[in-house]
Amino acid sequence: MPEKKEKYYLTTPIYYTNGLPHIGHTYTTVICDTIRRYKRMRGYDVVMTTGTDEHGVNVERAAKKAGIPESEFVANMAAAWRALWEELGIAADEFVRTTDLSHVRAVQWLFKLCKENGYVYKGQYTGQYCIYDNAFVNDAKPGDNCPDCGRPTETLTEENYFFKLSAFQKPLLDFYKKYPEFIQPETRKNEIVSFVEGGLKDLSITRTTIRWGIPVPGEEPHVFYVWFDALTAYISAVGGPDFEKRGYWPANLHVVGKDIIRFHTVYWPAFLMAAMLPLPKQVWAHGWFLMDAAKMSKSKGNVVLPRPIVNMLGMDALRYFLLREVVFGQDGNFSYDALVTRYNSDLANGLGNLASRTAAMIEKNFGGKVPKPSERKPQDDTIATETQTAIGEVLERYEKFEFARALEAIWGVIAAADKYLTSEQPWALGSSEVDQARKATVLWTTAELLRIVTVLAHPVLPDSTAKVWTLLGQSGSPGSFELDGLRWGQLAPGVALGKLQALFPRVEKAEAIERIESMANEELNPTPTPAPVAVASSGTAAGAATAPA
Ligand code: MSP
Repeated sequence: MPEKKEKYYLTTPIYYTNGLPHIGHTYTTVICDTIRRYKRMRGYDVVMTTGTDEHGVNVERAAKKAGIPESEFVANMAAAWRALWEELGIAADEFVRTTDLSHVRAVQWLFKLCKENGYVYKGQYTGQYCIYDNAFVNDAKPGDNCPDCGRPTETLTEENYFFKLSAFQKPLLDFYKKYPEFIQPETRKNEIVSFVEGGLKDLSITRTTIRWGIPVPGEEPHVFYVWFDALTAYISAVGGPDFEKRGYWPANLHVVGKDIIRFHTVYWPAFLMAAMLPLPKQVWAHGWFLMDAAKMSKSKGNVVLPRPIVNMLGMDALRYFLLREVVFGQDGNFSYDALVTRYNSDLANGLGNLASRTAAMIEKNFGGKVPKPSERKPQDDTIATETQTAIGEVLERYEKFEFARALEAIWGVIAAADKYLTSEQPWALGSSEVDQARKATVLWTTAELLRIVTVLAHPVLPDSTAKVWTLLGQSGSPGSFELDGLRWGQLAPGVALGKLQALFPRVEKAEAIERIESMANEELNPTPTPAPVAVASSGTAAGAATAPA
């Protein structure tokens, strides 16, 4: 554990405001929130940033279509993004909007530094531009489609400020070599290294064809290229030019989707090198959640929304599914069927069932107080050792952001508990002194295991583990438990259990899917009534959506 609280700064990408969050965006934010909770439990002083990327031609167009000024359009969208993260309990510590004055100043400051250091010059640029991705498409010819989104590119000539990206080929390659952990996972690193080895062209970083952007001081109508603007949000969120005062820059971690890794591992470090500012320590690229093997997008009409799932099954179920279902870094398929199956098997039958039967047996046999264990049998020691070993393994997995493996190890402990109960059968023991003593040992052992599982699962399942924590009569939140101090044997006998709250009520699959789909449909195509779509309804399995963290 760090001596004095060491700072840990992590970021989600800042999201475009021309759409609303779907499961893909939720995935990125859930990953960051899980890392934030985990790092806090390891004693770090953590700040997590998210925000909205509000400039560019797409916003100009969307605002025009909506018949409102851009500033109003983005304010509405930013408010909607912020509100949804809060509703889902994954609001970040800092929310940066690229229209914030502090951000505008930070972008202008970064540009000034790059220019003063000789890395910016004025020139003419003609190229194929993808207006959807806000990027010139390298090597594309007129008539070519954008390789990323497949839509037609447009030929664009303009006077631009250029950034001397070509000067950073060697510094970047040296940097990747010196810090082999900078780009993760390894496969992405190889891609980027060969991209940079292939040569870097200078990059145009201002535009005169776009109106809705941050002005280049004294150079109107030049506005900043969206990526120069957007990437700077990471530093403007923690003080901009005054970043040293707050002490969170350089970031420890940028979590991004694989589609935007190049911007984060080539352009961004080059901008910072040019400005002579400290570089982030790591960029982690996760894969995509696919729907019918395609990336979700509103235009394809295959988006999955988080809210209906949360209303039906609870936020923890969604978090669990997202992190358990795919290996971090790889793509995964999203299906309601797999989601509900995992919910019933791992959450309702697994953790939920273990918690409720343990509590019920302690209630019935020991008046709701944690019993005092007595003489141990070898099988008690075996499960204690297994659980203790799992603590080490889970922490190691979390440390490497191997969430699926961490959860697998935790659920291995839950399965061991089920087996242990089945073989020890505390319910079949009588009321003799010997039997009572045995019952006490078995139930203490199970409750202790449950306590450890609760702490370990907390970064992924914050709400339900808080309920189990209360159930076990523990004070505070499992989130304030220091992971490094977690050991077998800390559960004090005599503690009164708290109230059993519904954790993960079992659901009938077909019915649950139908309800989720109908809520999603309603949210995507609202019936024209004055009231907005319901946020949380009482008739749901898991009750209301989670409160802000
Ligand atoms: N605004 C830029 C980021 C600027 S960061 C300085 C952007 N925004 S985005 O809204 O399009 O995407 C934000 C993140 O969501 C990206 O990391 C992207 O990979 C992620 N996802 C969008 N759809 C996704 C899936 N279907 N699955 C997983 N993540 C995906 O890019």
